[in-house]
Amino acid sequence: MNATPTAAPPPTGDELPPWLRPRVPAGFKPLATPARFCCIMQKGGSGKSTTAVCLACELALMGLRVRVWDVDAQLGGTTHWLAPKIGEGAGEPANLLHLFNGEASPDEVTYPTQVPNLYVVPSYTSLKQVEIQPPPGAEQVIDWAIEHTAEPFDVEITDCGPALGQLSVAALVGTPNVIIPLKVSGFDLNALTELNRTLRLTKQRLAPDLKISAVLLSEVLRSNLTRDVFDAMCADFPDSLVMGIRQSVKAREASLDGIRLPLHEYAPDATVRHDFRYLAAALVDAERKAA
Ligand SMILES: Nc1ncnc2c1ncn2[C@@H]1O[C@H](COP(=O)(O)OP(=O)(O)OP(=O)(O)O)[C@@H](O)[C@H]1O
Ligand SMILES: [Mg+2]
Repeated sequence: MNATPTAAPPPTGDELPPWLRPRVPAGFKPLATPARFCCIMQKGGSGKSTTAVCLACELALMGLRVRVWDVDAQLGGTTHWLAPKIGEGAGEPANLLHLFNGEASPDEVTYPTQVPNLYVVPSYTSLKQVEIQPPPGAEQVIDWAIEHTAEPFDVEITDCGPALGQLSVAALVGTPNVIIPLKVSGFDLNALTELNRTLRLTKQRLAPDLKISAVLLSEVLRSNLTRDVFDAMCADFPDSLVMGIRQSVKAREASLDGIRLPLHEYAPDATVRHDFRYLAAALVDAERKAA
């Protein structure tokens, strides 16, 4: 396997079989800050929100100032888990929809969370209006907002919904380093063809810097199928980090209403937490600032 070590320590916990160790291509380097990532895969439940939230938490723990964008009109994802600290008030607080409609500034839609250094741009089901009737220039809004934030963030991460519409394109334009979480199943593998097409067209037309940083096999279990899919992803994405995120009931429980804690607080020693810590260190060099 053409793997080279990175500065990041290998994931720990239960020993990984050699074929499931992260594949880091030769020449792959963690990005300097500021860095922007987009968790995208139109198949539902592939692990996008879990990746966005856990990666963001680990980066914040590394001392970076991180913002997560909930670019999904479903309830129950990033906004629910990270629970933005929003003051009392009538109606929906200023959120991503208001930014798209030009009714709130980037700073007005950014809220602190229970995790120090970690901020969130929340969204609610009302965000689906952007898909139904996109405001002019919708695909540039997140990019524009990142550029026009008063105190810039070290890392910006967008969490897309299970669709490849206007919202996902806006996320790709604003945060062009792509992370694809997918499950080891025929459904998710079939969905890759359509995702690749969207990524290619978005790169050609709107985001020339777009590149696929990482492909994550979500909720992996040891099996021959996992091994085959891991090898296939290494072959299909030769320039990307490929790694498995281990299945753990802790990852499921952490976002439950009665718990609602970041994974690193709820289960600091869970193997899945080690995987996200590795991912954070492999993707971002906290010490290096872009020139
Ligand atoms: N490593 C893991 N181990 C166990 N469960 C996991 C793991 N990763 C994610 N899950 C669970 O799988 C489900 C789907 O994950 P998640 O919500 O992150 O996917 P998603 O791609 O954001 O979904 P959607 O497309 O609906 O936005 C959730 O219940 C989550 O808790
Ligand atoms: Mg989600």
